[in-house]
Amino acid sequence: MITSKQLREKWIKFYESKGHLDIGAVSLIGDGTTGVMFNVAGMQPLMPYLLGKPHPSGKKRLCNVQGCVRTVDIDAVGDATHFTFFEMMGNWSLGDYFKKEKTAWTFEFLTEVLGFDKEKICSTVFEGNAAAPKDDETAELLKSLGIREENIFYLPKKDNWWELEGTVGTPCGPDNEWFYPREDGKDSSDFLTGDRYVEIGNDVYMQYKKTATGYEELENKNVDTGFGLDRLLLFLNGLDDGYKTDLFAEAVEYLGKVSGKDYDKDEKARKAIRIIADHTRTAVMLIGDRNGILPSNTGAGYILRRLLRRAIRYCRSLEISSEEICAVAEIFIDKVYDIAYPLLKEKKGYISDEIRKESKKFEATLSAGIKEFEKCITGIERKNAFMKEKDASYVPETEISGKQAFRLYDTFGFPLELTEELAAERGLSVDRKGFEEAFKVHQEVSKAQVAAAKGGLTERTEITTKYHTATHVMLAGLRKMFGTGTEQKGSNITEERMRFDFNLDHKMTEEEIKELQDFVNGVIERKIPVEREELPYSKAIESGAYGVFTPTSTDQMVSVYRIGDVDLQICGGPHVKNTGDLGKFRITKEESSSSGVRRIKAVLE
Ligand code: ALA
Repeated sequence: MITSKQLREKWIKFYESKGHLDIGAVSLIGDGTTGVMFNVAGMQPLMPYLLGKPHPSGKKRLCNVQGCVRTVDIDAVGDATHFTFFEMMGNWSLGDYFKKEKTAWTFEFLTEVLGFDKEKICSTVFEGNAAAPKDDETAELLKSLGIREENIFYLPKKDNWWELEGTVGTPCGPDNEWFYPREDGKDSSDFLTGDRYVEIGNDVYMQYKKTATGYEELENKNVDTGFGLDRLLLFLNGLDDGYKTDLFAEAVEYLGKVSGKDYDKDEKARKAIRIIADHTRTAVMLIGDRNGILPSNTGAGYILRRLLRRAIRYCRSLEISSEEICAVAEIFIDKVYDIAYPLLKEKKGYISDEIRKESKKFEATLSAGIKEFEKCITGIERKNAFMKEKDASYVPETEISGKQAFRLYDTFGFPLELTEELAAERGLSVDRKGFEEAFKVHQEVSKAQVAAAKGGLTERTEITTKYHTATHVMLAGLRKMFGTGTEQKGSNITEERMRFDFNLDHKMTEEEIKELQDFVNGVIERKIPVEREELPYSKAIESGAYGVFTPTSTDQMVSVYRIGDVDLQICGGPHVKNTGDLGKFRITKEESSSSGVRRIKAVLE
């Protein structure tokens, strides 16, 4: 039996012994640079360095174990091998070593550290296309290491090329994938057809940049290695159920115990237990992250809400209280990820509180929502029966209408995907387009109501909204430069410019003005999503928010705007959706406003 803690340590030790620096894991929340909401691969935060920028550490050989969140397969969770969070063991060469060293080290790690038999290792390389040549070089190196020629396969781009789908300007290249048989077999003749082989990991030779029309060669030849810890752990322990490794065993055992259900024998309970365990783990990681998020109705916060609400719904099917999610969360925090993610322990109370709050909120409407859902189903069934009686050729309705789905969303807090899942269990679908239309109508009505309430006097235009968001970014920059004692002392925005007053004891130098301007433009270039959350004042402050605001009570609900890792302010809004929408920021004037208060005028161009 090898544990997750041992495997992480083996990986880091091995690559440290080959001169790599352990750079630790970065935040799971995407910084918006690629438009990807979460960190989906170990290489994602390293992209600027793979493209040629020197790494801040000054090193060219790096390694880490990086958490990743991939939610495209959310619906597949519940089987033995799908997870929404996983860890990627990685190492990189930034224009340093290349294929010769990389193939040798992966081979050494597999055969000497993990004890794999070199006769059984299979490896696949890129067969070549118009953009990049056939990778004979890697194949030759593999042979010289002792991998059997008949165990080396050339495969096309769809198998042996790695890039971040849907992105442009990102590093990519052919890869070399490593496989091992699950059990002994005579030879590798079934490699391409059977499922006897498990993919252990891959070495990507990142020497290209993806452009809008094709690929161009990078100056640096880089290596990007990724070995999935969760899957490797499963394999090394001879298991076929990912929920039986030490990452999940205790959570699964706990859920079995409190529900009185038998994980091994009861298929329905097994699925529910897996979903609760997986979604809770991911929720813990997202809330407890250094740029942690909270459940909300937009962006990343919405995904988190979906995960938690799905887990809550499955608690109901196990007939346990959704409070148990907090107990499961604590198992992950205290026992499983205590060493790899120490921040979770620090934020333990906060994480539990937030999960509990979301559970309470959803529990309050879940029963009524399920009743409402059943009503929709009965309505459809009745209509179908009635029509069929009148007309034998009638084609029965199989869809929940967009309006019904929107009502479940708006009144009962059912994420659309939850309604879809419930519908699918009854052989029905949901009219997604109709849902989106109902959503839009609702938004327009609320906007009109808000404008009416304000008497149109303070109505914000698109351009003043931009200026308002720019003040947030600029204040974040000022606080970074001059300390968190720096506060907004006044703000005035017109269609043409922003004027912003803040406390500072000296006239800003030209360098300081430039630094501030560069900071704001840097944040604009990073295209960071601007997200809104609603939470009690005390919680807002606890999570690091600031702002000129005096609450009537600590429980007063306030809205907080988060700009990635840049800013978290209590504010009524509105704001742009993404800092990329701001254009170019230029400071036109810095002057005194009153004693100890400076005034900046700036424009967006
Ligand atoms: N970037 C490669 C992967 O994620 C290593 O598999």
